[in-house]
Amino acid sequence: MFKIQTLNNISVVGLERLPRDRYEIASEIAHPDAILVRSAKMHDMDIPESVQAIGRAGAGTNNVPVAEMTKRGVAVFNAPGANANAVKELVLAGMLLSARNIAQAWQFSRDLQGDDAAINEAVEAGKKRFAGFELPGRTLGVVGLGAIGVKVANAARALGMHVIGYDPTITVQRAWQLASDVKQALSIDDLLTRADFVTFHVPLTEQTRHMINAERIRILPKGAILLNFSRQGILDDEAVIAALDSGQLYAYCCDFPSNRLKDHPRIVTLPHLGASTREAEDNCAIMVADQIRDYLEDGNISNS
Ligand code: MLT
Repeated sequence: MFKIQTLNNISVVGLERLPRDRYEIASEIAHPDAILVRSAKMHDMDIPESVQAIGRAGAGTNNVPVAEMTKRGVAVFNAPGANANAVKELVLAGMLLSARNIAQAWQFSRDLQGDDAAINEAVEAGKKRFAGFELPGRTLGVVGLGAIGVKVANAARALGMHVIGYDPTITVQRAWQLASDVKQALSIDDLLTRADFVTFHVPLTEQTRHMINAERIRILPKGAILLNFSRQGILDDEAVIAALDSGQLYAYCCDFPSNRLKDHPRIVTLPHLGASTREAEDNCAIMVADQIRDYLEDGNISNS
């Protein structure tokens, strides 16, 4: 259940979660002017005719029927950049925990049994088994140089990594925000041939679905690490699993658990935590609420 807020005389309504991942308009307001939504899937919902604007408290808008709403004249707003720092921090954590086998080593430590002498003995085995590698001098490929990709690229430079970015539609404003020593690749394949780590910050569209498949994984240097804190479906999970099993990939860290991925020993999955910090949640909510207020009160569109 999302909070219901009233901005002056404008009624903004949240969505109520029903069983089996369905949602409906929270019943307190019969004819809302706007809906604020985070992750609820709105495609099968009855969206009242009174709705003039939908605010998605996040970067992506996959859960909103944007084309249908646009035809109806409903403005759809998102919150680009508002959660970028939160996602960046989790990507950095993902790189570190993949390179240092932290999740596997933690599980190993939790499973240790016996007295402290037995545990100390096992520590020696753990040190060898989970030895990792360091980031400085390694190359990170960043696919998608929007607000999040740029932050990840700059942070990786600060950690001593080489960084190559790829984005065929990078804006001049974003290009200026990139650290001067972030190189731009000519194509996705050009980036993949040179990257020890690759992180994806693109929306899921027909063009990006399975953008990383078996063929592209073969281009990567052996032992590369993939990180997906964007959307499930950008990488072909089966191809990733096969490449982990063959040793072509070293690790995969992604923000979407699934039955196929969650138990694999070289995959760390998280429950879509990228934007889940207090700061990011506040920033997103404030950004979309401001946009909706500007639109409904003054007709201004700052982003849609
Ligand atoms: C986003 O699109 O920014 C994220 O999916 C936000 C979220 O986790 O709600």
